[in-house]
Amino acid sequence: DKGLRVSDKGFLNTAVIQSEITYIDGEAGVLRYRGYPIEELAVKSSFLESAYLLIYGSLPTSEQFRIFETEVLHHSIVHSEAEDFFGSFRYDAHPMAMLTSAFAYLGSYYSEANPSLQGQTLFTKGNAASLANMDKQIFRLIGKATTLAAMAYRVRQGRDFVTPPTGLSYTGSFLYQMDHLGEENYVPHPVLVKALDVLFLLHADHELNASCTTVLQTGSSLVDPYSAIAAGCASLYGPLHGGANEAVIRMLISIGSPANVPAFIEAVKKREKVLSGFGHRVYKTTDPRSYIIRKTADEVFKITGTDELLQTAMALHDAAMKDEYFTKRRLYPNVDFCSGLIYRAMGFPMDFFPVLFAVPRVVGWLAHWRQMMLQEGGVKIWRPRQIYVGSGKREYVPMAERA
Ligand code: SDX
Repeated sequence: DKGLRVSDKGFLNTAVIQSEITYIDGEAGVLRYRGYPIEELAVKSSFLESAYLLIYGSLPTSEQFRIFETEVLHHSIVHSEAEDFFGSFRYDAHPMAMLTSAFAYLGSYYSEANPSLQGQTLFTKGNAASLANMDKQIFRLIGKATTLAAMAYRVRQGRDFVTPPTGLSYTGSFLYQMDHLGEENYVPHPVLVKALDVLFLLHADHELNASCTTVLQTGSSLVDPYSAIAAGCASLYGPLHGGANEAVIRMLISIGSPANVPAFIEAVKKREKVLSGFGHRVYKTTDPRSYIIRKTADEVFKITGTDELLQTAMALHDAAMKDEYFTKRRLYPNVDFCSGLIYRAMGFPMDFFPVLFAVPRVVGWLAHWRQMMLQEGGVKIWRPRQIYVGSGKREYVPMAERA
């Protein structure tokens, strides 16, 4: 085991790839997609345009975007057999568990995406047919992410699935599928569509977070991208990662009111509670996304009315920002601190919030997966080593002779 050394716990400060996709400066609170600052994209771009940017590396021309949007929306339809699949879950199944399994299920439809069946040369650079096939899988996964999420939502509510009308944007189509209650000519509220589109854009990618690493680790064995995305969903589901937006709301409800914030802060300092929505492996200042989310929340509250949890959230935010227990550990608000307040104001159930993180993050996972599949020299399977610290050689002792 010459020269092996264990990376710090949890890959702390460990780089495993070089990437051209997303840049983060954790000290300065900078986030850029292919060099474009997130603050500018959030105002001037749309989720789907930024999706194209993340995956293909440049902002699309109007013709490139028209084709991309058409393909993604065209592929958003899911085979009607999937209705039985969703119907097989128990009434109270967590929608992230449903979404995770739905992506793997979806992969069973597309053998042309499966390198095991197509030979190891699938998705190789310079081969036009395989690049076109890769693009089709990418269109399918982005398009179907919204439909699978909407199916998980509607089956839980005992409502039939609906197909959105043409002419709506990617996010508008999703909101239509989520909120359509059967009224004629329903159109989702434009302010809510815009707010969700900004949230989707902010959640699209974040370099090598736990779930993106999972997608690349899984994809490095040349499994199909549907299975790799399912693995990414499983990782994102955890409360330390994408599940934190749900955990924040549960935390705010348990605190109850601003008056109870000091006691909660003390419990956190005694390590009896975790302050969900605070802290980050990379950001050692406020997550730049959280400023934009906070502003977006005010736009949404103008339509939906404010949320009584907002006062508690703001009291908690202010108390933590002034307390040296948090500032000394450089614990500041992250992307999950306020996003749940918006989803809740828009009427989504709490356990659905991680799904609203996963849907846009499929884009970032695919951008990194494509970058890996097309890397110079082809894909190397990710197989780290360990430092063995267990027992030396031992002889087997029959059970009857064991003490
Ligand atoms: C996301 O990686 C990404 O980019 C993720 C993400 C993305 O877009 O993909 O940005 C999305 O997942 C955001 C993070 C959402 N998770 C939460 O909000 C859960 C609460 N946060 C913590 O669990 C924690 O901050 C992590 C998991 C986010 C980061 O953990 P680290 O980097 O391993 O830090 P750590 O656990 O080593 O903490 C350092 C110190 C410790 O104290 P000491 O033992 O040194 O005294 O800070 C403390 C921790 O106990 N600490 C917290 C805390 N987070 C860290 N104490 C109280 N509340 C917290 N939230």
